[in-house]
Amino acid sequence: MFKKHFKYYKSKCPPPDLSNVINFRDAEFEKHQKVKRVELRGKNIDDLSNFGLKPINMWKMYEIADSPGFFVIPDPFTATGQRYWIQRCLRDFTRKPHSRLNLDAHGDLTKGEDWWETCCKYDVRSQNLLKKLRWATLGYHHDWDTKVYSEFARDPFPTDLATVCKYVCEAVGFPSFSAEAAIVNFYHLDSTLSGHTDHSEEDVTAPLLSFSFGQTAIFLLGGTTMDDEPSAVYLHSGDVAIMSGRSRLCYHGVPRIVLDTIQPWHLELDRDSEDLWIPFEKYVMSSRINVNVRQVLRQGQKSLSSVAS
Ligand code: OGA
Ligand code: MN
Repeated sequence: MFKKHFKYYKSKCPPPDLSNVINFRDAEFEKHQKVKRVELRGKNIDDLSNFGLKPINMWKMYEIADSPGFFVIPDPFTATGQRYWIQRCLRDFTRKPHSRLNLDAHGDLTKGEDWWETCCKYDVRSQNLLKKLRWATLGYHHDWDTKVYSEFARDPFPTDLATVCKYVCEAVGFPSFSAEAAIVNFYHLDSTLSGHTDHSEEDVTAPLLSFSFGQTAIFLLGGTTMDDEPSAVYLHSGDVAIMSGRSRLCYHGVPRIVLDTIQPWHLELDRDSEDLWIPFEKYVMSSRINVNVRQVLRQGQKSLSSVAS
């Protein structure tokens, strides 16, 4: 079932009918039988705006009825906040020595070469490198082969990202969440992410957080087996999705990226910062960034070595 739907949404020829994709930007979507509005619990604090978030009383949260624990908060970020995080992802979260990139294995970057700095040169090689970056890992580095985290593959986790996750999790009802690992996924208009579950984390009672920026994803959320029928949801720039409870171990994937008609990161832009923003804007005009954050340790656990024996 999952595969069939994935193929359907991925198809270029013929293109899929997108009218069943749940769209949180659509004024009518609250009537959608699969969507339930859920209350948030967080309190408003001044600090939220320092991290690019709107006051919590402006956030709304929805749950997909077939998938309890799968929540979407449509765009809790200010436009300034979206630009801040897009810049962090492209310029900082790809920077050595604390990040690992898919490019590392192929020797595409020379020793000490900075990916984003190279991308800003706009020559043939740099445009090739720009397209080639598919992921960066932070904190406990996700091991794509063994799927096992290790204390020996750990770097400091960005504190601003951990703080945003903490505010979101407090508001959703997971006050003890601790952000310890992240995958930053980079998608182009022809990229997909096939169906999978994220089960490498010890404590799956901790939610998985996902932040989307740039172009829109069609996100497929299935059940605990590939036989369950998935729901399709749009994830737009600025949206936060949370996989918790029963949905935490569900199959999911991204069969398609679609060009958006609006650029929410444009608002509130002042002339002074416009020039610095241009290279980042160029990137997100035809790409999508997804920051996927996980808790690796159990509550109170300090490091992985303490459970290794
Ligand atoms: C992942 C993931 C989904 C997305 O990184 O594990 O499922 O929306 N990403 O990009
Ligand atoms: Mn995943």
